[in-house]
Amino acid sequence: MKRLLSFILPMLILTSCATNDGQSSDNASNNSSQTIKPGDNDVLVAYFSVTNNTKKLATYAQEHLQSDIFEIVPNVKYTSADIDYNSDCRANKEQNDDKARPEIKYTISDISQYNTIILGYPIWWGQAPKILYTFIESYDLSNKTIIPFCTSGSSPIGSSATNLAKSAPNANWLDGKRFAGNTTKEEIGNWLDTYIKKEESMKLLIDNQELNVTWENNESVKALKKLLPLTIEMHEYGGFEQTGSIGQSIVRNDSQIDVVPGDIVLYNGNAISVFYHNSSWSYTRLGHINLDNSGLNNLLNKSSVTFVIKG
Ligand SMILES: Cc1cc2nc3c(=O)[nH]c(=O)nc-3n(C[C@H](O)[C@H](O)[C@H](O)COP(=O)(O)O)c2cc1C
Repeated sequence: MKRLLSFILPMLILTSCATNDGQSSDNASNNSSQTIKPGDNDVLVAYFSVTNNTKKLATYAQEHLQSDIFEIVPNVKYTSADIDYNSDCRANKEQNDDKARPEIKYTISDISQYNTIILGYPIWWGQAPKILYTFIESYDLSNKTIIPFCTSGSSPIGSSATNLAKSAPNANWLDGKRFAGNTTKEEIGNWLDTYIKKEESMKLLIDNQELNVTWENNESVKALKKLLPLTIEMHEYGGFEQTGSIGQSIVRNDSQIDVVPGDIVLYNGNAISVFYHNSSWSYTRLGHINLDNSGLNNLLNKSSVTFVIKG
């Protein structure tokens, strides 16, 4: 009975909304944070597609982001009979088998080069095809950001992305979205841009005062974002800066630099310093507070401050 219901329920959704193939979309969860920028070379679009709806949108995403793209190609190709869901077809059998893990023909040689994966798939019976589980379970996706999207006749993304996330719980899964097959390149670009806007919204508060900051676009800032929200108790040092430990090391690219009031830097890979007078040392730049010198002096020239960054 349970087996029968698992087939009938999604198909009821499929047929009842079959004429609504145009605009509907939905989000899988409220989890979100900043991730991507066009041209970032650490973004990968990975997708599975049998009848090319998902493939088309994945290509739009790749073009918009100028990223790499990887097709999840099954070892045994799906024929039209294999996806004839009104029959006892291969796709139906796989979707109804918890252990089904269809083999994938090609592998990604070095997944460590990617920090963000845009993951596309069709909805099959309300869920991601089982080959997506093969894909997820084939790699160490710890700490990678995954942005799922799907295409369907009408079903929402529903629990398909959150169920996939259970197979890679150490990845950072962001909002997923469902798209109709006829979604345009512009719509995909607009959707991806929402993540970019979120990236720009990284907020700094010092002693509860929200500050206007221009953040660097570098690997250290990206690494910092993964630690948010972050609170650092800073202490005054040398008559020119407030400094405090992050509590762990993050990626750095130090060089000898002259800093001016308002500069925020990474020191020794594991501490952040904010300046209210000029200085010079080996640091990695993180950003700059857009505040005049007297404002910076009032804010920072004291024995300690609480430094908070929120996503
Ligand atoms: C086996 C199977 C099951 C499907 N189940 C659903 C479903 O539950 N809900 C839905 O809206 N569409 C369903 N569809 C339609 C596909 O999600 C839709 O056509 C999708 O865009 C195909 O993507 P592709 O062209 O990238 O393969 C199903 C299709 C197949 C082959």
